[in-house]
Amino acid sequence: PDLPELLNLREIEAAACEVLPPAAFAYYRGGANDEHTLRANREGYAALKLRPRMLVDVSQIDTSTTVLGVPLAFPVGVAPCALHGLVHPDAEVATARAAASVGSLMTLSTMSHRTIEEVFGAAPERCWFQLYLYKDREVSRALIARAEAAGARALVLTVDAPHLGRREAIIRTPVHIEPGTVLPNIGPRTPGREHLDDLAYFDTLLDPSLSWRDLAWLREQTRLPVILKGLLTAEDAALAAEHGCHVWASNHGGRQLDTAVTALEALPEMVEAVAGRAEVYLDGGISRGTDVIKCLALGARAVFVARPVLYGLALAGEAGVRRTLELLRDEVRLGMALCGKTRVGELGPELIRRSQ
Ligand code: FNR
Repeated sequence: PDLPELLNLREIEAAACEVLPPAAFAYYRGGANDEHTLRANREGYAALKLRPRMLVDVSQIDTSTTVLGVPLAFPVGVAPCALHGLVHPDAEVATARAAASVGSLMTLSTMSHRTIEEVFGAAPERCWFQLYLYKDREVSRALIARAEAAGARALVLTVDAPHLGRREAIIRTPVHIEPGTVLPNIGPRTPGREHLDDLAYFDTLLDPSLSWRDLAWLREQTRLPVILKGLLTAEDAALAAEHGCHVWASNHGGRQLDTAVTALEALPEMVEAVAGRAEVYLDGGISRGTDVIKCLALGARAVFVARPVLYGLALAGEAGVRRTLELLRDEVRLGMALCGKTRVGELGPELIRRSQ
């Protein structure tokens, strides 16, 4: 179907499933183990009920906000995800262009097909860099320096992946990265590890010893704000704020610890623990404007989407990503109007019915 015929993010996913090779679709869609958390991410939004207010003048709706000083036309950014080049030759460059064209924000994964400079050049002032901290700190240090020089507005340190989770659908149908493809940010292959496929090799680079102590090292490498991605508890959110970091609530799209809580469930206690000291973001299972509105009502500053963006990219490159983001933008605007809210600052906990 043509893009305008796809009326929502679920239809974009279904259409991408038709065009993607099965292994690539499995790689994107999959979650860890029994995929309880993957399912819960989506189901959580439907279970939360809105309390709309009526007879409010909603002739003007302003969906804009800022994240760490970056202006957003609506409170949705692109979450970091690996290997955009598996589905479209323009890869992360197309995603970044689409994000910039609608006033959104691109978070570039360490595990990208394109270089930091190419991608950030496609979306000036609208890029964050996601960092997987490697055992080889020198490789990480060089990536941080490049990201900062290329104009990253923040560093997103992913902290929920000391190892990659067990994604069984991916084990069953492994994705194959074209022979000869160079992933620019993973450094040269360590001798003796040539036999590992790319994902298994990547796992050997990750540093499972990463702890709160390493944040001091990170601070010395950069002046950029640091966001910790993958936190799910009040305890860790408080520690993040104490360490001067911002907070990204996420269970990694259900791809790491299965049966972990959803970011949506964890959000209220995390926001309370942060107590205004840091910005709090969220990702996981967002597919409707009302999902975005609920997260903001519960205290998130903005939300991020990964899979729907990849599906749009698979369907139509830059235009497909733009369609995904525009659908969300328009749904947020309509949802706010139907809730009787004209600015994102008006979205608060009273908008959510307390569970009985
Ligand atoms: C991811 N995610 C991810 N996160 C990260 O910090 N670095 C990365 O390289 C990746 N790579 C990645 C690849 C793929 C295929 C997926 C689906 C996800 C996790 C991502 O940023 C996000 O936390 C989740 O995907 C939740 O969002 P969605 O997919 O439910 O919108």
